[in-house]
Amino acid sequence: MLQYPVKNLSNKTILAIETSCDETSAAIIQGTEVLSNVVYSQIDLHKEYGGVVPSIARTAHQEKLPEVVEKTLAEAGLELVDVEAVAVTQGPGLAIALEVGINYAKDIATKLDIPLIPINHMEGHLVSVLAGLGVKHIEFPILGLLVSGGHTEFVLVHGIGEYEKVGQTLDDACGEAFDKAAVMLGLGYPGGPAVSKAAAAGRHHLDFQMERDQQTTYVRAYETSTSKAQPKYELPIPMLNSGDLNMSYSGLKTAVKQLVNNLSGNSDNRNIRETGESEALTKEQVEEVSAVFEEAATEQITRKLKSALKKYPEVTEVWMGGGVVANRVLVAKISNLLGEQDVTLRIPKERLLTADNAGMIGIAAAFKLADSQKALDPTRFGEVDRDPGMSL
Ligand code: KG4
Ligand code: ZN
Repeated sequence: MLQYPVKNLSNKTILAIETSCDETSAAIIQGTEVLSNVVYSQIDLHKEYGGVVPSIARTAHQEKLPEVVEKTLAEAGLELVDVEAVAVTQGPGLAIALEVGINYAKDIATKLDIPLIPINHMEGHLVSVLAGLGVKHIEFPILGLLVSGGHTEFVLVHGIGEYEKVGQTLDDACGEAFDKAAVMLGLGYPGGPAVSKAAAAGRHHLDFQMERDQQTTYVRAYETSTSKAQPKYELPIPMLNSGDLNMSYSGLKTAVKQLVNNLSGNSDNRNIRETGESEALTKEQVEEVSAVFEEAATEQITRKLKSALKKYPEVTEVWMGGGVVANRVLVAKISNLLGEQDVTLRIPKERLLTADNAGMIGIAAAFKLADSQKALDPTRFGEVDRDPGMSL
């Protein structure tokens, strides 16, 4: 087994900047210690549109970034001149939002004549689990499970910077599916937290069974209080029998839509709340459908993870990063699975580190900075990584 020696982690003071989507964030990092991590969320600005509006995100990043950087320096008890390197999210993300952070970081690096370190956002999510851990060595390979609003993927980590993507969603990301289900159920944006909250209530009345009919496995939900002759709800768990580590969420999303249609007694979309025309579902139905959806969505990842561990028995640690790590049902299922298999689960130690934040970008940069080849001269850096294929 490979070991990653500590000498490959820089202890220099790094200012990290993240503006890939709808959070404006700046952090100060030394090694894996996050001295400050300020996140300004733009949720309120995008809420009325039901999703992130890129031009609004860009303007908000431009307005807020200087203030966020100032605040993070103050919280760390530092001044700009104390910063020894600047790290910035290069992609994947919204190009016009990324550019705000990149230009700002580039200016600071040029002004102070210090290295500029471009970081892949997903690498940030991966190493977010290391925050505050005082890493001595890491034993590879590790299996990374990245679950966010834009990505759902398994990455075999052979070393920091040496990544092999071994499975991914073929369409929507898990967080995106939560967001879309939330819209259909009239739960608003951002959907993940709202669906998981509604689901927690819906779970009280339901028992779940995983049942396979030919090629498809279903989550069938039975009412706890009644006899179990007929399921009250049923949703498919796509790809379970695909024989690989890929996932899919679009079929589940369509099934939720049909279920909402059926419950509202309408075969077209007229009565789905996303049209804003109807409140056809009762609160209890919204909670129960949320619960069945959450069960299917989380079961898919957990079962694929089980297959991944079977395929890579040398893995003794799973690192889980991304916004969906805030989902307690998912983490509980994975934690149970890994407990049975004697595999260690690492998740970010605080909520702030699961969603988009600059702290995780700084940690990735600390590894890159130790390998000075990868820290760029700011004058040579300027390209935004627009290609989602470049992600981990
Ligand atoms: O990592 P992240 O902050 O941004 C991206 O890089 O995409 O992830 C945001 C995603 C959103 O889709 C959000 O709905 C989802 O994470 N999310 C959740 C929960 N909290 C956030 N999904 C399910 N359950 C949650 N509790
Ligand atoms: Zn993210």
